[in-house]
Amino acid sequence: MSFRETSGIFPKGKLMRKSTKRNSNWKKRLGEIKPYKPGKPIEEVRREIGLKKVIKLASNENPFFPPKGVVEAIRRAASDVNRYPDGGSFYLKKALSGKLKIAPGNIVLGNGSDELIVLAIRAFVHPGEEVVVAKPTFLIYHIASMVEGAVVRAVPLKDMKYDMEAMRKAITPRTKMVFVANPDNPTGTYVNKPDLERFIRSLPRHVVLFLDEAYYEFARGGDYPETLMNALRKDKDIIVARTFSKAYSLAGLRIGYAVSREEIADVLNKVREPFNINSIAQAAALAALEDRTGHVKKAVDLATKGKKELYEVFNDLGLEYVPSRSNFVLVNVERNSTRVFEYLLTKGVIVRDMSGWGLPGFIRVNVGLPRENKVFIREFRKAMKEIAKS
Ligand SMILES: Cc1ncc(COP(=O)(O)O)c(C=O)c1O
Repeated sequence: MSFRETSGIFPKGKLMRKSTKRNSNWKKRLGEIKPYKPGKPIEEVRREIGLKKVIKLASNENPFFPPKGVVEAIRRAASDVNRYPDGGSFYLKKALSGKLKIAPGNIVLGNGSDELIVLAIRAFVHPGEEVVVAKPTFLIYHIASMVEGAVVRAVPLKDMKYDMEAMRKAITPRTKMVFVANPDNPTGTYVNKPDLERFIRSLPRHVVLFLDEAYYEFARGGDYPETLMNALRKDKDIIVARTFSKAYSLAGLRIGYAVSREEIADVLNKVREPFNINSIAQAAALAALEDRTGHVKKAVDLATKGKKELYEVFNDLGLEYVPSRSNFVLVNVERNSTRVFEYLLTKGVIVRDMSGWGLPGFIRVNVGLPRENKVFIREFRKAMKEIAKS
């Protein structure tokens, strides 16, 4: 029985009315914020559609389970959860420090890289100051900025890529932060090394650049920029964030890291909760770094192969798609994308309808296991036949 039902403090009915009423003392901007709508969870679709077999290709997750060594580390850590975690994540930071060749004092851990985005805005942006983002891009930059009372300057993409010239022009004396998702979500496109370097050179001193590299492991190589050294520069304020959610298969545990100058790391540490990384996540991430089964490489290879297969299908159907440097593909289905999304849902395949991201007619699908991709391709071909072009 819940507290609500048993407590005499909140007589039945009254609580419900109270909880839906907005209080005029609440932050004014909250009314303008549309809550982030994540990819539908598998369980929800099973419940709603009544299907046993459901495939999720909607949140750019890694379809591989974590390696055995990681699952064992999670099991071991589970028996210690009567204790608070190490608030400084000493061993994990030490391991990350060794891998990245960056001192532990330059690393801050977050409850997913989502939290690092929120912490950075909380730390650096005063109400009324401006944050420059792309449009569309990962939605949390916008939401977290609004929560802090910032003014968001959203710069349209050009040919589905970040328009770095226009992003630079959008910076004013009131701009406090700029977010660059590299590669971007939902397009999967990336800002190359020369363009990023030019942008960094042009950044005024009062701006903090947040480089979101959630898909780093999928994107690296060629002219994709290696940015950690930029994050340590004294003449610029740069935060580079990465995550264990994607290539490392730990999305459910919520853990990411940021690299920056020590002064910035200290500030981020001040505004985070003292125990923001739970003990199981710390143990799992540590084991993931120690993995010797080639897990990350397997995930990257799977994404490369899976994307190729998807491109072939989209080419065959004459659909325009965005070549991606990540583990997902954005495709113009030339139909009502909500109908396509709903059609696939009834077949037990969850993708992401992009109409809510300002891209009506587009869906985003991530690479799954080969058998999952096969089901998606079969059902997607049927959807293209059954749903008329709009
Ligand atoms: C560009 C981008 N940044 C950050 C995140 C957040 O990742 P997490 O909070 O799981 O580390 C995502 C997740 O989809 C993303 O696409």
